[in-house]
Amino acid sequence: MIKVAPSVLAADFLKLGEQIREAQAAGADRLHMDVMDGRFVPNISFGMPLVQAVRRGSTLPVETHLMIVEPERYVEAFAQAGADTIIVHQEVSPHLDRTIQVIKHHGKRAGVAINPSTPIEVLGEVLEQLDLALLMTVNPGFGGQHFLEYTLRKIRQMRALLDRRNPACELEVDGGIEPHTAPRVAEAGARVLVAGSALFGAADGFTAAYGRLQASLGS
Ligand code: DX5
Ligand code: ZN
Repeated sequence: MIKVAPSVLAADFLKLGEQIREAQAAGADRLHMDVMDGRFVPNISFGMPLVQAVRRGSTLPVETHLMIVEPERYVEAFAQAGADTIIVHQEVSPHLDRTIQVIKHHGKRAGVAINPSTPIEVLGEVLEQLDLALLMTVNPGFGGQHFLEYTLRKIRQMRALLDRRNPACELEVDGGIEPHTAPRVAEAGARVLVAGSALFGAADGFTAAYGRLQASLGS
């Protein structure tokens, strides 16, 4: 069963309450929130106040994808804002073991993300501690980018690794996921698909787009 995590970044913030209710009604599994600092990634998005608002506006689990330098400094703040899963980037968290422990200490699920150009081996020593491994399928920072084909190989490799060492860990992909790419990442072994512009950005609305994405997955 493939799970879908709509990315709030692509929503209309003026209608955010309505949009996340529609996502929940359509059957979304969780809400994905992209926090960007203009340092680790070129773009700036939103922070704790929006996470708090979404937490209040939905009963779905919320995951925060922190695309920020020194993410360990903000684990507590995002935990308090109501995130259920906190995802940090390996590239900006040199003491990853400690960061994961801190996330768990706050009673949250721990996720680690890696960029397309980062080899999966960097997660090798912490695999057993992870609740979620996020493979970026675009360079982080913006919605609406094209899926990078070579990441399929990494998804397959990570699937094999997790099957062997931590089958309970979720394998999530993020970026360029739409009805053409979704079945391919699922076939490669991804189990949670983040999708922003393909859902919230659809001209005929979220519900119709969600139906198309599910149909592409054969469900
Ligand atoms: C990219 C973000 C993604 C983004 C995905 O840096 O991490 O979560 O919202 O957007 P789409 O689905 O439009 O590629
Ligand atoms: Zn994301």
